[in-house]
Amino acid sequence: MNRLANKVALVTGGATGIGEAISKLFAREGARVVVAGLPDDPVDKVANEIRQNGGDAIGFTGDISFLEVANECVQRTTDTYGQLDILINNAGVFVETNEVQDYTEHAFDYMLRNNVRSTFIMTKAALPALQKTKGNIVIAGSEAGVLGIPQNAAYGGTKAFNMAFAKGVAGEQAAHGVRCNVVGPGPIDTAWTHKETGPMNKKMEKLNNQANLMGRRGTPEEVANVYLFLASAEASYVTGAVYMVDGGITIGKGPAGDQADSSFKEEPEQDLNLQHGMEGHTAIR
Ligand SMILES: NC(=O)c1ccc[n+]([C@@H]2O[C@H](COP(=O)([O-])OP(=O)(O)OC[C@H]3O[C@@H](n4cnc5c(N)ncnc54)[C@H](O)[C@@H]3O)[C@@H](O)[C@H]2O)c1
Repeated sequence: MNRLANKVALVTGGATGIGEAISKLFAREGARVVVAGLPDDPVDKVANEIRQNGGDAIGFTGDISFLEVANECVQRTTDTYGQLDILINNAGVFVETNEVQDYTEHAFDYMLRNNVRSTFIMTKAALPALQKTKGNIVIAGSEAGVLGIPQNAAYGGTKAFNMAFAKGVAGEQAAHGVRCNVVGPGPIDTAWTHKETGPMNKKMEKLNNQANLMGRRGTPEEVANVYLFLASAEASYVTGAVYMVDGGITIGKGPAGDQADSSFKEEPEQDLNLQHGMEGHTAIR
């Protein structure tokens, strides 16, 4: 407990799915949290839920792929809390599945803007404040950034960008005392990986669960735990690193999940009171 005492964290895409878990876990660990998201995201609800549980959080609404919005978000953070210690670049979209010949140009541009541009712009906006506190950044990669993903090849490309971008940032920002790392989730139990709530079809959903060594999706909490470690002082010697939280999908061979021990297949209990796991960004808005 209190691993983030006296810290201020800005979590992009912080109101749904994995982001909600990060926001709530960081608040429970003592951080003051800015929950940032797009206009339709439940940012104020999540900030409220955190405050009702005795934590400290505010919501920020806006598209952080625009520099003026990202600057405003950082300004709101420092105006409210006086500093910024941790930037979690978690925002991202997964809005279409199609083979490349059928993948729309519009969806491709939308993904570049929300997965790639948002990470670059938010990092650019936050660095002056992070350099003051000698803070750190954690960026959302993906197993798809390592392995690629059929029928969303462009998505995998955006995540590969994020993973290489983070290493470049780590390399240059060490001179300012700022660390930068990546969390690379595998298939996680959010709206994106269910055929009912996202663009994945039944076949993709099944393959995701079979291809990892646990034989199941990861939970948002299991991902948030690794964000917490990397953002905390416990990771003081970790920078430029990619931590996969993927149930072993990047080393699995064939339908490895079918062989998983039943203990691996059980999701650990969560106690973060998550409410918005299935409200993620799964279509162009
Ligand atoms: N769910 C998975 O299986 C999985 C796997 C690998 C990586 N990831 C990564 O984890 C992150 C979170 O995914 P999730 O499954 O929780 O999805 P999600 O849709 O629940 O969360 C993403 C959030 O980011 C917000 N967002 C997107 N673009 C934004 C912008 N320009 N400005 C502000 N907010 C913006 C969305 O509105 C949404 O609330 C993403 O970066 C994703 O690439 C997820």
